[in-house]
Amino acid sequence: MCGIVGYLGKKEKKEILIEGLRELEYRGYDSAGIAIIKGKKLNNFKAIGKIINLEEKTNDFHSDGFGVSIGHTRWATHGKPTELNAHPHLGKYSFVVHNGIIENYQSLKTELQDDGISFLSQTDTETIVHLFEKNYKDDSFQAFKDTLDRLEGAYATLLITETAPDTIFFAKNGSPMLIGFEGDDVYFASSDTPIIGKAEEVYYLEDGEYGYAKDGIVKLFNKDGEEKRFLKEILVSDKALAQKDGYRFFMEKEIYEQSTVMSDTMMGRIVDNNIYFEELNDGLLDGINSIKICACGTSYHTALASSYLFERISKIRCDIEIASEFRYKEPLLSSDTLFITVSQSGETADTLEALKMAKRAGLKSLSICNVDNSSIVRESDASILTRAGIEKGVASTKAFATQMMVLWMFAIELAQRRNTITKENLQIEIDAMLHTPKALIVKDKLHNKLNRLAKRYLHGHGFFFIGRDIFYPLALEGALKLKEISYLHAEGYPAGEMKHGPIALADSELFTIALMPKTVHYDKIKSNVEELSARDATILAISPEPFELADDFIQTQYDNHPMLEFFEMMVITQLLALEISIRLGNDVDMPRNLAKSVTVE
Ligand code: AGP
Repeated sequence: MCGIVGYLGKKEKKEILIEGLRELEYRGYDSAGIAIIKGKKLNNFKAIGKIINLEEKTNDFHSDGFGVSIGHTRWATHGKPTELNAHPHLGKYSFVVHNGIIENYQSLKTELQDDGISFLSQTDTETIVHLFEKNYKDDSFQAFKDTLDRLEGAYATLLITETAPDTIFFAKNGSPMLIGFEGDDVYFASSDTPIIGKAEEVYYLEDGEYGYAKDGIVKLFNKDGEEKRFLKEILVSDKALAQKDGYRFFMEKEIYEQSTVMSDTMMGRIVDNNIYFEELNDGLLDGINSIKICACGTSYHTALASSYLFERISKIRCDIEIASEFRYKEPLLSSDTLFITVSQSGETADTLEALKMAKRAGLKSLSICNVDNSSIVRESDASILTRAGIEKGVASTKAFATQMMVLWMFAIELAQRRNTITKENLQIEIDAMLHTPKALIVKDKLHNKLNRLAKRYLHGHGFFFIGRDIFYPLALEGALKLKEISYLHAEGYPAGEMKHGPIALADSELFTIALMPKTVHYDKIKSNVEELSARDATILAISPEPFELADDFIQTQYDNHPMLEFFEMMVITQLLALEISIRLGNDVDMPRNLAKSVTVE
């Protein structure tokens, strides 16, 4: 959570920082700020809310000529989204920005307050800058190191100070940060997007690393304090992929893109009518007898859906865990289990920590991830990239679709290896996969219908998305999409469970979105929906089969393969959430209280 940027060089610093923060705004947009030191001059601007507010405040400010600068966009963890709590935090003569959580900040703060230091903000971050200044005698780097020694928790942090006005101090532990190099210019950022187009070479910092940048040179130290020689990588990425292209919101564009990115996801992975992942080498799957998948949010939903496929088709035991629960349940892990993490960003703190735990327990690990070089990818023994392209909408869409495709393909790959699928059934699966891009094409007629339908679903006391089997995780995902961007209460529920309690809520103001595929337990779900209809719930049925009890009905086209039905219904639930949110006047891409990448616990 939170995004940080830094720049050392002669270019116009304000612009570099603000452009960079705009790229990171998806990580949090409660407030933003920048600080620049040029010679003896300290400049600091902060604004509540989105980057545009900060831009307006800095309109008349210019900062070219050599200097050091840092910036931050915040997702509030400690303290409300106020200007005082916005980063960079100022001591007497130094500024700091930080992404992560300083777990022992309360005891540090008390210690500093006992020394007579007063705090302006309620944040954990402010302790860093005061501690630095307390530690400073005559050597800024020594003071920075002494400060890091006292910090517990996760951080990616940048510090600039008048005592070393040509230097940026940096440290990373548990939160992402990379350094970009271009001539004498040095850039810092939480992810590569702010650096693309500015620097061609980058270095992704590892946990425990810290150092400083001065005169275009970066001195890097490992967690044991030894200076480290490091290899820079070439930064290859195409930022043009992240423009809105005439769509109202990134989320809308990303829903429409699903059809094409799905072809990228499959490219080179279906060879001679077999599924093939070149990433699965070096005996990763040797001796594996079960799977455990850990993920959060939307990624958890694809994991849950895939567990039906792994057990049903690959005949391998598959347990799914919410990463934040897994971390503290003291799980019993066995080394014949393949530990899979699923993550769009590859930076989700809970998922990353779960992966580290599994590795410590000796498990082999595979990540299914959208961002190459992310922390989760770098921590895993092997990774399969989902190739969804940059996803900007906070509400995940194409990442969900491509994760689901990779997991489906991996289930079939395992079935091939384990001889649990006939040639005939393998062909059916592959044909369905190849047909998926078509099933994901958004038709105008459908979008218009959902636009009109959205009008009817703006009030009421809640939504239930219901489904069975793989359509249960899809129901969870449909409800999550709606909650995230419309702020209406929605729940995903297994259709057969409604009668065990939630049906008590049924009345005409309870909106039920019923996922009624033809290929998976149609008769069972039909009875469940009939039970709700008998209690006067308002039903929006989504099915290839006409359903006369529905108040509203969307007829789907696919009725011959569960996954094609799954993807077709997925698009419908995404568009429904989008249209409801737009009608409510919400900012679809930056819903309140959320951030794209949750890098705090
Ligand atoms: C999805 O719409 C959400 N924004 C959120 O649930 C997300 O899926 C979750 O935070 C996990 O993120 P990750 O896939 O990047 O690990």
